[in-house]
Amino acid sequence: MEKEEHFLEVLITEEEIQKKVASLGEQVSRDYAGSEHLVLIAVLRGSVYFAVDLSRHLTIPYVLDFIGISSYSGGDPLGIVRITKDLDVNIARKNVLLVEDIVDTGLTLNYLLNNLRTRNPLSLRVCIFLDRPARRIVDIPVDYRGFEIPDVFVVGYGLDYNEKYRNLKSIHVLKDKK
Ligand code: IMP
Ligand code: MG
Repeated sequence: MEKEEHFLEVLITEEEIQKKVASLGEQVSRDYAGSEHLVLIAVLRGSVYFAVDLSRHLTIPYVLDFIGISSYSGGDPLGIVRITKDLDVNIARKNVLLVEDIVDTGLTLNYLLNNLRTRNPLSLRVCIFLDRPARRIVDIPVDYRGFEIPDVFVVGYGLDYNEKYRNLKSIHVLKDKK
């Protein structure tokens, strides 16, 4: 863990985040009302903060599960991702909502969606907190979106830089990222 501090600038405030997450929760609750077996899948580790907050706003029954993946940003430029922790629940014939913190190139979600599809879910939708379309390589069908952001690196609300800043309550731009 590095000791240096970075220059951070607020991009999305805590109030804006809380309002948006509440409204996404209402939307999801409305859309899945009456349907059974909703499984929320949070992608470890960044999206856990968002997924848990979102789940608090759901007024329908759900099961929360987690999937862990090794990120391409760990140095793999080909976008090869690998499952490091698999789901505990069987999602066959379940309504699945995949919850992710941010979509950048789309490679991570593309891999996950292809993988989850082979498990025969009843439905499979995507809920992302942040969308950065500038660097998209693969098109991702996004059903629920928090905020669209410009081509800047962000931290906070679960998003990290070398495991730092996940605890920040607002979304900040990391101005001096090397
Ligand atoms: P993608 O596969 O390029 O769409 O990358 C998505 C993953 O990269 C996210 O799940 C994050 O873990 C990570 N990531 C991408 N952009 C950022 C950022 O600005 N801050 C922190 N993590 C990021
Ligand atoms: Mg992630």
